[in-house]
This record gives sequence, structure tokens and C-alpha cells, in this order.
Amino acid sequence: MRDRVVCGLDIGTTKTCAVVAEVAGDLPRAVEARIVGVGRSRTSGVRRGVVRDIDETMRSVAEAVAAAERMAGFKVEGVYVGVAGEHVRASTSPGVVNVTAPEIRESDVARVIEVARAVVLPPDSEILHTLPQEYLVDRQRGISDPVGMTGTRLEVDVFIVTMSSSVAQNLRRSVERAGYHVTGFVLEPLAASYATLSDDEKELGVALVELGGGSTDLAIFHDEKFRHVGTFGFAGAHITSDIAQGLSVTQADAERLKERYGLAYEPLATPGEMVELPGTVGQGPREVQRELLAHIIHMRLEEILSMVSREIEREGYAGRLAAGVVLTGGTAQLAGVVELARDVFAMPVRLGMPGRALTGSLTDAVEQPRFSTATGLALYAMQEVARGAAQAGAGAMSVDRAWGSVRRWLTDFF
Ligand SMILES: Nc1ncnc2c1ncn2[C@@H]1O[C@H](COP(=O)(O)OP(=O)(O)OP(=O)(O)O)[C@@H](O)[C@H]1O
Ligand SMILES: [Mg+2]
Repeated sequence: MRDRVVCGLDIGTTKTCAVVAEVAGDLPRAVEARIVGVGRSRTSGVRRGVVRDIDETMRSVAEAVAAAERMAGFKVEGVYVGVAGEHVRASTSPGVVNVTAPEIRESDVARVIEVARAVVLPPDSEILHTLPQEYLVDRQRGISDPVGMTGTRLEVDVFIVTMSSSVAQNLRRSVERAGYHVTGFVLEPLAASYATLSDDEKELGVALVELGGGSTDLAIFHDEKFRHVGTFGFAGAHITSDIAQGLSVTQADAERLKERYGLAYEPLATPGEMVELPGTVGQGPREVQRELLAHIIHMRLEEILSMVSREIEREGYAGRLAAGVVLTGGTAQLAGVVELARDVFAMPVRLGMPGRALTGSLTDAVEQPRFSTATGLALYAMQEVARGAAQAGAGAMSVDRAWGSVRRWLTDFF
């Protein structure tokens, strides 16, 4: 049973969130995650993916995971931790090998991936993900699985995502001091995609935009593959600061105003509707037009979404994302955010929240955009469990089967 329990841990700029799930269904196929525990805690220990205060991060990890454990009724040991921030880098790297056997085997594929992975890493960095994009056999493009094909020259393009080793070390230290073990690190937008995107959307082309507290992350999928990752240092916390400044209220009051009365799309505000403002004795009773609050939020969010839109264009995906944009993350919970994004992107836009591959009576505990990353981390972990079962099921392995498992170990599974 224990090896069927997974835990996703999302350590964000504003909160730490743990999702514990049991892997349900018949391994290695048809797996679903039964959500059994969710825990949250506020934090100020991490800023945009980088640990600033180990003790504070440790405290919030301990609090969030303990809350999820109480709900689940058992302890967890290993956790999958989300990774994000400007230290994350991605690039495409090619590999080429000679094939001597009559047909291409698993071992050739493992070998060509190994060649593509042998890139010179910048100092203080390590590989987070290796995602094969396409294979070429005798210069023929567009092959997704070359095993069994005939050819003498095998090439691959892999998408390699790297992270800073010191960031990894500090995250690991914080989690270990809280009493847990880091089973794996996963890029946050990749994790969020597991919880929010359908296979059809990834095939047609989709941009996943995670609107968080300290940063906004972009992930582009096209032809079923993860193609681009980007991050912008502006998100919900900046909206809160704008409100605090614009309306002369404290950050905490600005946060409450935003969540209770905030609108991301100005035309949704009813003209003349007033909102009471908290204030000091000196400030006296005050109120403000809800339209003004909406205006402040609209302006900042429009600026953030425009940055994302420009990056989509720069990467050459304008007009190529038939499935449009999926918005997720805490700031996507603002009313009117979809309407605003439709204006900015001129594409179909929907809200993304966990729901795929989930089962059990506690699913509703995570069905909000702000839980996408933590839930996606648990779903990613679930796939790893299924993968492990598939390998164990392979039983007495031939040499080539063994190479197959090396290939799976070298790469992520899509
Ligand atoms: N109902 C809501 N309405 C408006 N904003 C909300 C709501 N709920 C959460 N937020 C905002 O979402 C932000 C937090 O989002 P999220 O939890 O995704 O970020 P994070 O993971 O802590 O940070 P990051 O990913 O940027 O490091 C905060 O700025 C918060 O104000
Ligand atoms: Mg986040």
C-alpha cells in the first residue's frame, strides 16, 4: 500500500500546498489518483521558486504536509517537489548515432538520447527533464517511436530542461529538515499540465498560463510535445500592491478587497456600485467605486497577459495554438480573468483546474485553479509509480528490455 501513496508538494511565493493521493486502478495501465489529503500553509520562505529562508520554508512544508497527513490518516515519506523560477532553462539538443543491426532497438534509442543529453551544462546546473521531441531515421523526420524501424542513422531532438543545483539543494534541505524525502523534482508548469490539459489540447497546440502570486509561468504544447517554457516576475502579489497603493489600504486589506470584490475585466463592473474601504481612524469611513478597483486589476493583469502573448509570438506560435490558452494558478480565480484574456490573446481561453484522472470523494478539495500544480505533481508521481510497475512487470529482462528501462529512466514519458 505504501508504495501506492504519492505526495505532490508545491512551494510557492505565497503558499505551500501538499496533495496526497493513492494510486488507484490496475497498474501499470488505467491508473487514477484518489485524492486522500490536502494541506496548505502560508509562506514567505520562497520567492519565485528560490528558497530565501530555509527555516521558514521548512516550517511551511511541515505544516502543509502534516495537514494533508491528518486528512489522509497516515504519514507520507517521499514527496515530489515543484520547481520554477528564472534559474530554469530549456533548450533543444540533437543527438546522432550509427545503427548496425537490421532494425532499431531500444538500446539504440537509449544511446542516441544519451548522446543528446551529453550537452555541456552551465556551472551550477543539473538536468531536470529530458523530453524527446522527434526522431529522424536516415534523415526522415517526424518519427515518434523508431523502435523496430530499419535504418543506419538514428537522430533525435530532445528538449532539455535544467535547474540550478544550489536552488535544488536548498529546496531539498528545507524538505528534509521538515522530515520528508525528495523523491523527485518536477517543473511546475509541466506538473500543472498533467492536472489541467487534455491530450487533444496538447496535440492541437495550447498555451498553459499559470498566474501565481510572485510569477506567471508559460508552457507551450504543440503536436503532443512540450515545446517552450517561460517565466515572468509579475503576478497576483503585484496586483495586490497596486490596490494597496492606489486605494491607500494595507497589503492585507488589499488582498481581501481583491478576493472579495476584485474583477479582472473592467466592463463587468456595474457603474456606480460602491465598495466600503477599511481604514484607520484618521482616514475615517471611506468607500470607492468598484469600477476603480476593477480598473486597477484590469490594467496590471492586461500588462502581464500582454507579456505572455508577446512571448507566444516571439516563439513563433501565434496562430498555431488551435486549443488556445488555459489559465490556471491562484490569480486565475479572479472573476473576469477569462474575459480579459480573450481580449488580449484573441484566442479561445478557458480556466484550468484539476479534474483529469482524479477519483474519490475528496476530489472537490482540489478542484480550484490554485491547486493545479500540487495536484499535477501528485499525478506526475502516479505516472512514475505506473512506470515502475511496468518495468517490474517486464520480469526477467533481456538485454534490450534493460536498455528500454534505461531509456525510460533517461527521459520523461512523453
Ligand atoms: N479568489 C481569489 N481571487 C483573486 N486572487 C486570488 C484568489 N485566490 C488566490 N488569489 C491570488 O493568487 C495568488 C497566489 O496564487 P498561487 O497560489 O498560484 O501562487 P504561489 O504558488 O504561491 O506563487 P508562485 O507560483 O508565483 O511562486 C495570490 O496573489 C492571491 O492573491
Ligand atoms: Mg505557484
